[in-house]
Amino acid sequence: MRKLILTALVVAFATGGIAAAHAQTADAAIAARKAGMDLTAATAGMFKRAVDAKDEVKPLKGAAEAVAAWAAAFPGLFVAGSDKGATKATPEAFSDHAGLTAAAGKLHDAAMKASAAAEAGDKAAFAVAFGEMGAACGGCHRTYRQR
Ligand code: HEC
Repeated sequence: MRKLILTALVVAFATGGIAAAHAQTADAAIAARKAGMDLTAATAGMFKRAVDAKDEVKPLKGAAEAVAAWAAAFPGLFVAGSDKGATKATPEAFSDHAGLTAAAGKLHDAAMKASAAAEAGDKAAFAVAFGEMGAACGGCHRTYRQR
Protein backbone atom coordinates (compact mmCIF):
# COMPACT_ATOMS: atom_id res chain seq x y z
CA MET A 1 0.00 0.00 0.00
CA ARG A 2 2.71 2.38 1.07
CA LYS A 3 4.69 1.52 -2.03
CA LEU A 4 1.62 2.16 -4.16
CA ILE A 5 1.08 5.60 -2.66
CA LEU A 6 4.75 6.39 -3.18
CA THR A 7 4.56 5.29 -6.80
CA ALA A 8 1.43 7.37 -7.31
CA LEU A 9 3.20 10.37 -5.81
CA VAL A 10 6.26 9.89 -7.99
CA VAL A 11 4.06 9.60 -11.09
CA ALA A 12 2.06 12.68 -10.07
CA PHE A 13 5.23 14.74 -9.57
CA ALA A 14 6.75 13.51 -12.81
CA THR A 15 3.63 14.37 -14.85
CA GLY A 16 3.35 17.71 -13.12
CA GLY A 17 6.97 18.36 -14.02
CA ILE A 18 6.37 17.47 -17.66
CA ALA A 19 3.30 19.75 -17.80
CA ALA A 20 5.29 22.60 -16.24
CA ALA A 21 8.17 22.09 -18.67
CA HIS A 22 5.68 22.11 -21.52
CA ALA A 23 4.11 25.37 -20.34
CA GLN A 24 7.59 26.89 -20.00
CA THR A 25 8.43 25.91 -23.58
CA ALA A 26 5.19 27.45 -24.83
CA ASP A 27 5.79 30.68 -22.86
CA ALA A 28 9.36 30.83 -24.13
CA ALA A 29 8.15 30.39 -27.71
CA ILE A 30 5.65 33.25 -27.30
CA ALA A 31 8.33 35.49 -25.75
CA ALA A 32 10.72 34.66 -28.61
CA ARG A 33 8.03 35.41 -31.24
CA LYS A 34 7.37 38.83 -29.73
CA ALA A 35 11.01 39.75 -29.12
CA GLY A 36 11.90 38.74 -32.68
CA MET A 37 9.02 40.78 -34.08
CA ASP A 38 10.02 43.80 -32.00
CA LEU A 39 13.61 43.52 -33.26
CA THR A 40 12.26 43.19 -36.79
CA ALA A 41 10.18 46.35 -36.35
CA ALA A 42 13.24 48.18 -35.01
CA THR A 43 15.27 46.98 -38.00
CA ALA A 44 12.52 48.06 -40.42
CA GLY A 45 12.57 51.49 -38.77
CA MET A 46 16.29 51.70 -39.37
CA PHE A 47 15.77 50.71 -43.03
CA LYS A 48 13.07 53.33 -43.44
CA ARG A 49 15.32 56.08 -42.12
CA ALA A 50 18.07 55.02 -44.53
CA VAL A 51 15.67 54.90 -47.50
CA ASP A 52 14.09 58.27 -46.66
CA ALA A 53 17.49 59.93 -46.21
CA LYS A 54 18.91 58.16 -49.32
CA ASP A 55 21.76 56.93 -47.14
CA GLU A 56 24.35 54.37 -48.18
CA VAL A 57 22.65 50.92 -48.03
CA LYS A 58 25.77 48.72 -48.07
CA PRO A 59 25.99 48.60 -44.23
CA LEU A 60 22.43 47.18 -44.06
CA LYS A 61 23.26 43.84 -45.69
CA GLY A 62 23.74 41.94 -42.43
CA ALA A 63 20.55 43.31 -40.90
CA ALA A 64 18.56 42.34 -44.03
CA GLU A 65 19.99 38.82 -43.87
CA ALA A 66 19.03 38.60 -40.20
CA VAL A 67 15.44 39.54 -41.04
CA ALA A 68 15.41 36.79 -43.70
CA ALA A 69 16.74 34.25 -41.19
CA TRP A 70 14.17 35.38 -38.65
CA ALA A 71 11.35 34.96 -41.19
CA ALA A 72 12.56 31.43 -41.92
CA ALA A 73 12.70 30.55 -38.21
CA PHE A 74 9.45 32.22 -37.16
CA PRO A 75 6.93 29.49 -38.19
CA GLY A 76 8.89 26.99 -36.05
CA LEU A 77 7.98 28.96 -32.92
CA PHE A 78 4.29 28.00 -33.08
CA VAL A 79 4.75 25.07 -30.72
CA ALA A 80 1.94 23.19 -28.98
CA GLY A 81 0.34 25.17 -26.17
CA SER A 82 1.65 28.53 -27.43
CA ASP A 83 -1.79 29.44 -28.75
CA LYS A 84 -2.73 30.36 -25.17
CA GLY A 85 -1.26 32.94 -22.80
CA ALA A 86 0.26 36.32 -23.60
CA THR A 87 0.03 35.90 -27.36
CA LYS A 88 -1.62 37.91 -30.10
CA ALA A 89 -1.35 35.18 -32.70
CA THR A 90 -4.72 34.21 -34.17
CA PRO A 91 -6.07 30.64 -34.10
CA GLU A 92 -5.37 30.58 -37.87
CA ALA A 93 -1.64 30.82 -37.15
CA PHE A 94 -1.96 27.34 -35.66
CA SER A 95 -4.66 25.79 -37.84
CA ASP A 96 -3.15 27.05 -41.13
CA HIS A 97 0.56 26.49 -40.64
CA ALA A 98 1.17 26.23 -44.41
CA GLY A 99 -0.39 29.68 -44.93
CA LEU A 100 1.68 31.15 -42.11
CA THR A 101 4.85 29.61 -43.56
CA ALA A 102 4.04 31.02 -47.01
CA ALA A 103 3.46 34.49 -45.52
CA ALA A 104 6.80 34.24 -43.70
CA GLY A 105 8.39 33.15 -46.98
CA LYS A 106 7.35 36.45 -48.56
CA LEU A 107 9.19 38.38 -45.86
CA HIS A 108 12.19 36.09 -46.26
CA ASP A 109 12.34 36.66 -50.03
CA ALA A 110 11.89 40.43 -49.74
CA ALA A 111 14.63 40.61 -47.08
CA MET A 112 17.00 38.56 -49.28
CA LYS A 113 16.29 40.99 -52.12
CA ALA A 114 17.13 43.86 -49.77
CA SER A 115 20.33 42.06 -48.80
CA ALA A 116 21.36 41.66 -52.45
CA ALA A 117 20.56 45.33 -53.12
CA ALA A 118 22.62 46.32 -50.09
CA GLU A 119 25.55 44.25 -51.26
CA ALA A 120 25.36 45.96 -54.67
CA GLY A 121 25.03 49.35 -52.99
CA ASP A 122 21.85 49.84 -55.06
CA LYS A 123 19.70 52.34 -53.14
CA ALA A 124 16.76 52.22 -55.58
CA ALA A 125 16.60 48.40 -55.51
CA PHE A 126 16.88 48.47 -51.73
CA ALA A 127 13.90 50.87 -51.54
CA VAL A 128 11.81 48.53 -53.73
CA ALA A 129 12.72 45.50 -51.61
CA PHE A 130 11.96 47.47 -48.46
CA GLY A 131 8.47 48.21 -49.83
CA GLU A 132 7.97 44.48 -50.42
CA MET A 133 9.08 43.77 -46.86
CA GLY A 134 6.43 46.16 -45.55
CA ALA A 135 3.77 44.48 -47.67
CA ALA A 136 4.83 41.11 -46.24
CA CYS A 137 4.42 42.39 -42.65
CA GLY A 138 0.90 43.62 -43.30
CA GLY A 139 -0.01 40.60 -45.41
CA CYS A 140 0.76 38.21 -42.58
CA HIS A 141 -0.64 40.34 -39.76
CA ARG A 142 -4.01 40.61 -41.54
CA THR A 143 -4.69 36.91 -40.99
CA TYR A 144 -2.32 35.67 -38.33
CA ARG A 145 -2.07 38.48 -35.79
CA GLN A 146 -4.90 39.79 -33.62
CA ARG A 147 -5.64 43.50 -33.84
C1 HEC B 1 4.53 35.29 -41.22
C2 HEC B 1 3.75 36.22 -40.46
C3 HEC B 1 4.32 37.53 -40.02
C4 HEC B 1 5.17 38.38 -40.72
C5 HEC B 1 5.73 38.22 -42.11
C6 HEC B 1 5.39 39.50 -39.84
N1 HEC B 1 4.73 39.34 -38.65
FE1 HEC B 1 4.79 40.59 -37.06
N2 HEC B 1 3.63 39.28 -35.99
C7 HEC B 1 3.10 38.11 -36.47
C8 HEC B 1 2.39 37.42 -35.42
C9 HEC B 1 1.68 36.09 -35.54
C10 HEC B 1 2.49 38.24 -34.28
C11 HEC B 1 1.93 37.93 -32.89
C12 HEC B 1 2.96 37.09 -32.11
C13 HEC B 1 2.46 36.68 -30.74
O1 HEC B 1 1.91 37.54 -30.00
O2 HEC B 1 2.60 35.49 -30.40
C14 HEC B 1 3.28 39.41 -34.68
C15 HEC B 1 3.61 40.46 -33.84
C16 HEC B 1 4.29 41.60 -34.22
C17 HEC B 1 4.61 42.71 -33.35
C18 HEC B 1 4.20 42.83 -31.88
C19 HEC B 1 5.23 42.12 -31.01
C20 HEC B 1 4.88 42.17 -29.51
O3 HEC B 1 5.78 42.55 -28.72
O4 HEC B 1 3.76 41.85 -29.14
C21 HEC B 1 5.29 43.64 -34.09
C22 HEC B 1 5.84 44.98 -33.61
C23 HEC B 1 5.44 43.09 -35.42
N3 HEC B 1 4.82 41.84 -35.47
C24 HEC B 1 6.09 43.72 -36.45
C25 HEC B 1 6.32 43.16 -37.71
C26 HEC B 1 7.05 43.81 -38.78
C27 HEC B 1 7.62 45.20 -38.74
C28 HEC B 1 7.08 42.91 -39.81
C29 HEC B 1 7.70 43.04 -41.18
C30 HEC B 1 9.04 43.53 -41.29
C31 HEC B 1 6.36 41.72 -39.39
N4 HEC B 1 5.92 41.91 -38.11
C32 HEC B 1 6.19 40.60 -40.18
C33 HEC B 1 3.24 37.62 -37.75
C34 HEC B 1 4.05 38.15 -38.73
